[in-house]
Amino acid sequence: MCGIVGYIGHREAWPIVLKGLKRLEYRGYDSAGISLINDHGLNIYKKVGKVQELENFSAGKNLSGTIGMGHTRWATHGIPSDRNSHPHTSNDGRLTIIHNGIIENYAVLKEELASRGHVFNSDTDTEVLIHLIEEIYKKENVDLLEAVRLALHQVSGAYAIVVMDEEQPNELIVARKGSPLVIGVGTGEYFIASDATPIIEYTKNVIYLNDNEIALVKRDELVIKRLDNVVQTPYIQELELKLEMLEKGGYEHFMLKEIFEQTRSIRDCLRGRIYANEGRVQLGGIKEYADKLKNIDRIIIVACGTSWHAGLVGEYLIEEYARIPVEVEYASEFRYRNPIITEKDIVIAISQSGETADTMAAIQMAKERGATIFGVCNVVGASIPRLTHAGVYTHAGPEIGVASTKAFTAQVTVLTLMAFYMAQQKGTLTQAKLVELLTELDHIPEKIEKALESNALIEKIAHKFKDSRNCLFLGRGSGFPVALEGALKLKEISYIHAEGYPAAEMKHGPIALIDEEMPVVVIATKNSSYEKVISNIQEVKARKGIVLAIVTEGDTEVRSMVDYCIEIPDASEAFLPLLATIPLQLLAYHIALLRGCNVDQPRNLAKSVTVE
Ligand code: F6R
Repeated sequence: MCGIVGYIGHREAWPIVLKGLKRLEYRGYDSAGISLINDHGLNIYKKVGKVQELENFSAGKNLSGTIGMGHTRWATHGIPSDRNSHPHTSNDGRLTIIHNGIIENYAVLKEELASRGHVFNSDTDTEVLIHLIEEIYKKENVDLLEAVRLALHQVSGAYAIVVMDEEQPNELIVARKGSPLVIGVGTGEYFIASDATPIIEYTKNVIYLNDNEIALVKRDELVIKRLDNVVQTPYIQELELKLEMLEKGGYEHFMLKEIFEQTRSIRDCLRGRIYANEGRVQLGGIKEYADKLKNIDRIIIVACGTSWHAGLVGEYLIEEYARIPVEVEYASEFRYRNPIITEKDIVIAISQSGETADTMAAIQMAKERGATIFGVCNVVGASIPRLTHAGVYTHAGPEIGVASTKAFTAQVTVLTLMAFYMAQQKGTLTQAKLVELLTELDHIPEKIEKALESNALIEKIAHKFKDSRNCLFLGRGSGFPVALEGALKLKEISYIHAEGYPAAEMKHGPIALIDEEMPVVVIATKNSSYEKVISNIQEVKARKGIVLAIVTEGDTEVRSMVDYCIEIPDASEAFLPLLATIPLQLLAYHIALLRGCNVDQPRNLAKSVTVE
């Protein structure tokens, strides 16, 4: 959480940093702030609320300067307020810092510093760090790089930081541990950001700073060291990102754009990976482990939120087609248990951002216990793909709407490919069956396009549901994770309380909630549990619940018994989660819009959850 941006070069820093913060706003939007150094010295502007508030507040002020940095906050220590906004300053006001992460031992450090006369102006952990740097800077009589390096030895926790000194207007110090930090390399200029999106407009050449690295960034010089003072050779990579991927492209919201992009994103995810005629899946990222997969006893999937729902779909697919037992775990629970993990296990970590703190910690633990770790990530070069032994990127492109949509279907697509790949290695599917399934998978993007055609109908249905206070989502088999995902989408962007349940579990409790005001969304497509789901619909209707069913096109049976119906194209059971999710994403979007909610930036959320 929190986004950081920095610039040093020959251009005006303000517009670059401000635009960068807007690009990173998905990481948190509780407050924003920018500091600049110019002829008048250090200028700091900060404001609670969105980056737009900061822009309004700063209009007409002195915004010149070719060195600057900014921060968009997701509050952890201290309420969202002007005083808790970054950048924070040292006791003497000469140094400033922006920080993404958490300094875990800040309370002890704060007490010690306070006893030595430091006065704090915020409730944040970050302010403690800049005071510590200041103390070392002054006492040890070292340069700023060294002062920051020594200070970082005294802190525990996670950080991506940028530090500026009013009296050194030609340098920035940056460092990272556990939170992402990218340096864009220009000519006579450098860009710093939490991810590459603020940088792509200016340069395609980037360096991903590694954990425990610190850098001195001048206009024409970059020195990277490890925290143990060993100088590193920078590894410059070329970005594949395109600027238009970061724009709304004519849509009202990023979320809607990303929902409609799924035809393309799933196609991109499949590209070069399936050879339908041969009945063959090729996953270059995990091919080294093909033999291991033949003899594997168990797979553990770890993830959070929507990615965890994708993991549940993966469980159905891998068990069904590759016949390998799968356990799906919330990363945050898994890491604090004492799970039994052996060297024979494969752990699949799923994460859109590739930065989720709990997922990273789960990976670390499983790795220490000898498991092989595969990653399923969207953001190329993020921390998780660098922690794993192997992996498969989802290639969904940047997802900017905070609620995950196209990343989910891309994750499910990768897990479908993995299930077929494992089946291929283990020989659990015949060649003919693989040909059949892969041929159908190849055409799923067209079916997604068809499913999107229900948008206008879904908008109409949304009017009926927009004032509901609760909503139940039911599904069976792989329809259950789809129900969970539908409920999560609705609650996170519309603030309607929603729950996903296995349809058969309804009678064990949730049925008590059903009355004539309770909407129940049921995944009732034609698959192996169709008849059973029909019985569950009858149970809801008998209690006067309002039923919206997601059905297979042409279905008349369910249609005759429910209040509203949305059709999706017919498909084999393996692909139903991909198709059935689409109307639920659109339903959540339209309901949230009708309720006047900020669909792209729902309250209290951030896209990249880098705190535990
Ligand atoms: C919900 C959503 C979150 C994320 C979760 C994990 O729409 O986006 O639940 O899925 O925070 O994030 P990643 O996938 O980045 O690890």
